[in-house]
Amino acid sequence: MKFVRFIMKNAALASAPKHIEHFSKFSPSPLSMKQFLDFGSINACEKTSFVFLRQELPVRLSNIMKEINLLPHKLLSTPSVQTVQGWYIQSLLEILEFLDQNPDDHRVLGEFVDALVTIRNRHNDVVPTMAEGIIQYKEAFPQDVSTNQNIQYFLDRFYMSRISIRMLINQHTLIFDGTTNPVHPNTIGGIDPHCQVADVIQDAFHSAKSLCDHNYQCSPRLLLHEINNKKSKQPISIVYVPSHLYHMLFELFKNAMRATIETHVDKSSLPPVEVLVSLGGEDMSIRVSDRGGGVPFRRMEKLFSYLYSTAPAPQIGEYTRPPLAGFGYGLPISRLYAKYFQGDLQLYSMEGHGTDAVIYLKALSTDSIERLPVYNKTALKNYRIIHEADDWCIPSKEPLDLSKF
Ligand SMILES: Nc1ncnc2c1ncn2[C@@H]1O[C@H](COP(=O)(O)OP(=O)(O)OP(=O)(O)O)[C@@H](O)[C@H]1O
Ligand SMILES: [Mg+2]
Repeated sequence: MKFVRFIMKNAALASAPKHIEHFSKFSPSPLSMKQFLDFGSINACEKTSFVFLRQELPVRLSNIMKEINLLPHKLLSTPSVQTVQGWYIQSLLEILEFLDQNPDDHRVLGEFVDALVTIRNRHNDVVPTMAEGIIQYKEAFPQDVSTNQNIQYFLDRFYMSRISIRMLINQHTLIFDGTTNPVHPNTIGGIDPHCQVADVIQDAFHSAKSLCDHNYQCSPRLLLHEINNKKSKQPISIVYVPSHLYHMLFELFKNAMRATIETHVDKSSLPPVEVLVSLGGEDMSIRVSDRGGGVPFRRMEKLFSYLYSTAPAPQIGEYTRPPLAGFGYGLPISRLYAKYFQGDLQLYSMEGHGTDAVIYLKALSTDSIERLPVYNKTALKNYRIIHEADDWCIPSKEPLDLSKF
């Protein structure tokens, strides 16, 4: 019996490239916030969601798996990246088992929810595992500009794909597991149709504050202002995924607190972190301002790089209290969360003074549509760009020997 299972498993594994080839030919179908809500409320139908997901999840998985294969060979062959690739193949095969199953059978629908939960748990550690592979690669091989650009390009798309796959899985499992969220009974899956922005800001600030108090024995205070241009004097709310907003704000607060404390070590008091929330017709923007000394303009571009952090790298696999700064993934991943529903995250800094980080989100749920990577010729071309000589002069640091002229 064991032997038969072994043969079947190997046969399934061998068929994986064929399935990846097939499903990567389809483009992912981006959903709008409104469609997510409809799926979970008026039109909530587990069967429809099942039929959609058993096709859409393999499409999203296969599209990004094609890109994993385009990574530099030495990175692809690290044990960490191999592990991640193995998880993706296994999860794809598990979903494909539902392709020929009957959507009218309740047992099948129940098994599908269980399979999705297993897949979500399997992929919990994708980010640190991938980071581990990148660190191993960075340490073992000299870096060149085009490889670094490829890795940055890939990771942005890979993590965006991951955010979107988890969103689909969360919506289905939360809506169809037959329970309601005891803390937020009005949420639809992970979406809050009336997400109170100030509440999420306060929550994220307090979590960052306790981490900061633990690391530095002090923390700056929060000053929060809201400008509601739609309904003045009313608290600002939008249709959004509170956990995504929390993630972005928590990262920005950790950075603002670290910068504030490290530049005011010798002073008796700390300047506050100021937050301004503004709701307009199109955008809902949140500005987090600190007086933490800012960042030199030359370094600004690097802040969103997965290969850069000024904090000492944390020990991998060490499950102690999370540090205030670590892999250098805080900003790039937060920007992906903002971009996922067509927003953005930008940093404006004045060295010697401080930094403003601004999160831009869509005010209207009809404008909040998933932004998804697609594997096509353009993507392929982006991996093949070879960085040739710079087309701007590189000034010499040596004094010019005029006698030559
Ligand atoms: N508000 C800020 N003021 C000054 N420097 C900042 C600020 N925000 C970010 N930085 C700089 O940008 C770098 C990258 O920030 P990022 O949040 O991406 O990573 P990190 O804080 O180093 O690690 P983590 O992954 O734990 O967030 C930081 O190491 C820091 O040097
Ligand atoms: Mg950070």
